[in-house]
Amino acid sequence: MEIIIQSTYKQLATIASEIIRDALLKKPDLVLGLATGSTPIGLYKALVRMYKEDGLDFSSVTTFNLDEYVGIPCEHPQSYHTFMANHFFDHVNISMKNRHIPQNTAENHEAFCAAYEEAIARAGGIDIQVLGIGTDGHIGFNEVGSSLASRTRIVTLTESTLVANASHFEGDMSAVPEIAITMGIGTIMEAKQCLLLANGTSKSEAIAKAVEGPITSMVPASILQMHPNTVTIIDESAASDLKEVEYYKRSYANKLKLQSQ
Ligand code: F6R
Repeated sequence: MEIIIQSTYKQLATIASEIIRDALLKKPDLVLGLATGSTPIGLYKALVRMYKEDGLDFSSVTTFNLDEYVGIPCEHPQSYHTFMANHFFDHVNISMKNRHIPQNTAENHEAFCAAYEEAIARAGGIDIQVLGIGTDGHIGFNEVGSSLASRTRIVTLTESTLVANASHFEGDMSAVPEIAITMGIGTIMEAKQCLLLANGTSKSEAIAKAVEGPITSMVPASILQMHPNTVTIIDESAASDLKEVEYYKRSYANKLKLQSQ
């Protein structure tokens, strides 16, 4: 796993956006896996800027979001449909037909989940999957104990996730939907590249466990150690519990040095 440590949140968002931009310039019909939450907001902002100021073209891009709450309508201000519209989709030229977010209103969830997997496969698989990380180490809504081979499915959120997400529901934990649809860990692991983003001290323990701890379903993000192409981009605070910080910094500096030769 490549670990890139940056001083600021803005820098980590910039690096993530540059990885996506470079991939998009090479492959205009890029398939992106997208996350919601506070972590990727800076990344979306940087991509929107590239679209508006540099003419980066998203017209052939296809997207698949990781997850969505069940039990609130798509139009709900805290739904992930609304989040994606506000932070990204309303500001770039990704065609409506190419945007996919798990349907929280599907009548048959099982059939929906199977169809979501099929749609990802039909699109040729995900080229770059953007991931945040929960304080308990979850990725998507794959909570502790999720099968490391799981596929898109219905899940119940843990108390720690309900508490973390209550801030988006005026601090009212009882207003956070307890049930969600998430891409599975097996689904995420099939992405050709994963970008794991984290900032702030609240994520430092989860990052240390995910990057340097044992691979276990109790820290779902730890499975990324088995992914052949995961780039973890974090700020100094999120890196503060890592043992090998100096080594990661030296490795990245050497990579940049080689690239500039
Ligand atoms: C959201 C998602 C979650 C978040 C995680 C971190 O689509 O997949 O795994 O990435 O809960 O959330 P933030 O970024 O709000 O700390």
